[in-house]
Amino acid sequence: MSVVTTKKDGEVLVITSDNPPVNALGQAVRAGLKAGIEEALSDDGIKAVVIRCEGRTFHAGADITEFGKPPVGPSLPEVIEAIEASTKPVVAAIHGTALGGGLEVALGAHYRVAVPSAKVGLPEVNLGILPGAGGTQRLPRVVGVAEALPMIVTGKPINMKKAESIGLVDKIVDEGTLEAEAIAFAKSVIGTTDLPRSGERTDKIKDAVADPSVFSSFMEKNGRKMRGYEAPIACVEAVKAAVELPLEEGLKKERELFMKLVSGTQSAALRHAFFAERAAAKIDDVPKDTPLIDIKSVGILGAGTMGGGIAMNFLSAGIPVTILEREQAALDRGVGIIRKNYENTAKRGRMTMEQVEKAMSLLSTTLDMGDLSDCDLIIEAVFELMSIKKDVFTNLDKTIKKGAILASNTSYLNVDEIAACTSRPEDVIGLHFFSPANIMKLLEIVRGEKTSDTVLATSMALAKKIGKVAVVSGVCPGFIGNRILAKRQEQAQQMILEGAKPWDVDRVLTEFGLPMGPFQMADLAGVDIGWDPEKTSSSTVREVLCERGRKGQKTGKGFYDYDDARRGSPSSETEEIIAEFMAKNGTTPRDISDEEILERCLYPMVNEGAKILEEGMAQRASDIDVVWMNGYGWPPYTGGPMFWADTVGLDVILAGLEKHADAFGDKVTISPLLREKAEKGEKFN
Ligand code: 3HC
Ligand code: NAI
Repeated sequence: MSVVTTKKDGEVLVITSDNPPVNALGQAVRAGLKAGIEEALSDDGIKAVVIRCEGRTFHAGADITEFGKPPVGPSLPEVIEAIEASTKPVVAAIHGTALGGGLEVALGAHYRVAVPSAKVGLPEVNLGILPGAGGTQRLPRVVGVAEALPMIVTGKPINMKKAESIGLVDKIVDEGTLEAEAIAFAKSVIGTTDLPRSGERTDKIKDAVADPSVFSSFMEKNGRKMRGYEAPIACVEAVKAAVELPLEEGLKKERELFMKLVSGTQSAALRHAFFAERAAAKIDDVPKDTPLIDIKSVGILGAGTMGGGIAMNFLSAGIPVTILEREQAALDRGVGIIRKNYENTAKRGRMTMEQVEKAMSLLSTTLDMGDLSDCDLIIEAVFELMSIKKDVFTNLDKTIKKGAILASNTSYLNVDEIAACTSRPEDVIGLHFFSPANIMKLLEIVRGEKTSDTVLATSMALAKKIGKVAVVSGVCPGFIGNRILAKRQEQAQQMILEGAKPWDVDRVLTEFGLPMGPFQMADLAGVDIGWDPEKTSSSTVREVLCERGRKGQKTGKGFYDYDDARRGSPSSETEEIIAEFMAKNGTTPRDISDEEILERCLYPMVNEGAKILEEGMAQRASDIDVVWMNGYGWPPYTGGPMFWADTVGLDVILAGLEKHADAFGDKVTISPLLREKAEKGEKFN
């Protein structure tokens, strides 16, 4: 059956697309829409048109899988021009998410009717492109530059209340009545001769034509967030064209910018990121119909940095949480921080006070593990020591009801060893959240040797429910993310003892696009993590820094010196400490180039990623990319470490690893998989 069908309702032709899952505007849909408009125009009995979709959503955009392939007509701009040029009124009936090309189709229509739950937006920028079917020209003409710019440049969709208030939607109708209401609306506008064509409007852009300062003030406010990205800048340029040029020329400009972006590396990387995230949600050897456990309540052990943040995820999703601690003071402190975090969110307008109170009302505390016995999921977030974890899991096994999931938030420890001290290792799993756990999107789901499919599938479903991006990892020290991080840290530490300055290492990595370098990260997290004042022996730079009270930002000094506003500057004391170590080691400091810093930090990460794949610790290379983009701020416009390595060329990475072999010593041994792929000219993705 055709993906686009037409039917008549009196004098209205209803064009319906049915292209699951999201009615993407692939070639067949575009051809069907165009044919539908032609049918309406050639039939004298038809006086108006409704464009609508079956299934869960109006068109959610162009079909991203077609990008990078030879185009097959009709093009989307062509279809939208045909819709807009129609002499018979066209009404778009919107439900679900009208995104990208979907909103552009709706903007081509003369009227837009929607249900209250719908969302509309132009998220193309997230894929490294800009709206390429007239969105940058028509949206400002309909809602004005001040409203259009943030929608196009940030890609964030808006709800119907907002859409109606800015004139993007003409009528909101009750849920469940959309088709009938859209047809009634179409009938009510039959005979209108001066149809409101978005592309012909000038009323909403005349202010920006007279005073283009709206662009400079937008850039002033948002420019910093665009650092490194090509698409947002192109989006602004395209909207400027809407103000400065007639429609036809503006559309031409938009097309040029679109074509340039879509064939570039950033867009390829961001499209990879989009599909990688969705692929990560799939576990190859777990059947789709695996039964799930209904998680109605969660118990959390430890109200420290992680326990509190983890709790917030569930509270925000409406799932009751009980937190267990060793003493009342720790509970009070933990609960206080949770409340403060919520109240700060409310102050920033991202939550109402009712929502804060609702979340807090779902939280209870206890000092008695017995109170957790009925929970469906337990997440342990106590100190990172195997002996303590084993103790805790032995007690959980005795106390918690059968059938509950017993999870550990451990960063490095062996989940199988933890599972082995219970009588139900199949119910044990690693749920590795990232700090701050209420904010960071990544959740590493650590699949133990005996973890059951049900426990794994439930954890994946739960991750989605609490808005996390989940990636499955096998059991290995540090799992996917921290295992790769360790390789970078090792080289960074080594290079400062060969002559590189910590701030040079940090600069090279931030220039690459990472939010911070290893030494800035150490100062932020605390140089003293894992440092024991009783056992310290001045044997590493880190130990000496801690011994001298340089524990990071919290003490005003670490690798860097900090001012009152926590701005860091290079520290001469740190330099002296490093110089003393080099003298002791008999090392003559040498100049280390930016190129060497980058290669020695990043190539071993790729190499470790390859080993993780080789060992089957990650299901696919793109999963490693998802971990690093969502957990460590790897710049998405390079697609994650493995995709980035593909763009650099695996032969180049291999040659680089070999070039630095002496410096690496036995810390970095080349992955056979990497070598094989490099020699065969293959890629990871
Ligand atoms: N093209 C092709 N496939 C798409 C797609 C698209 N535009 N949007 C979603 N899909 C696929 C996903 O890959 C996924 O496939 P899978 O089941 O095989 O993994 C499936 O549809 C379902 O997607 P989600 O899992 O993301 O479903 P959700 O319900 O969570 O979210 C959504 C739905 C909000 C529509 C989300 O999929 C989304 O944000 N899609 C992308 C929207 C977008 O970026 N549109 C702009 C496209 S570019 C464009 O329009 C250019 C134009 O200006 C010329
Ligand atoms: P933390 O020291 O801030 O909190 C641990 C809490 O557990 C303390 O409040 C302590 O009183 C409590 N606790 C200790 N033993 C307990 C017991 N037997 N019963 C109940 N409560 C107990 O530690 P943090 O940083 O929250 O780490 C917790 C776990 O999360 C560790 O395994 C850590 O490796 C892991 N993790 C930490 C991350 C981080 O960035 N801090 C990131 C990801 C994981």
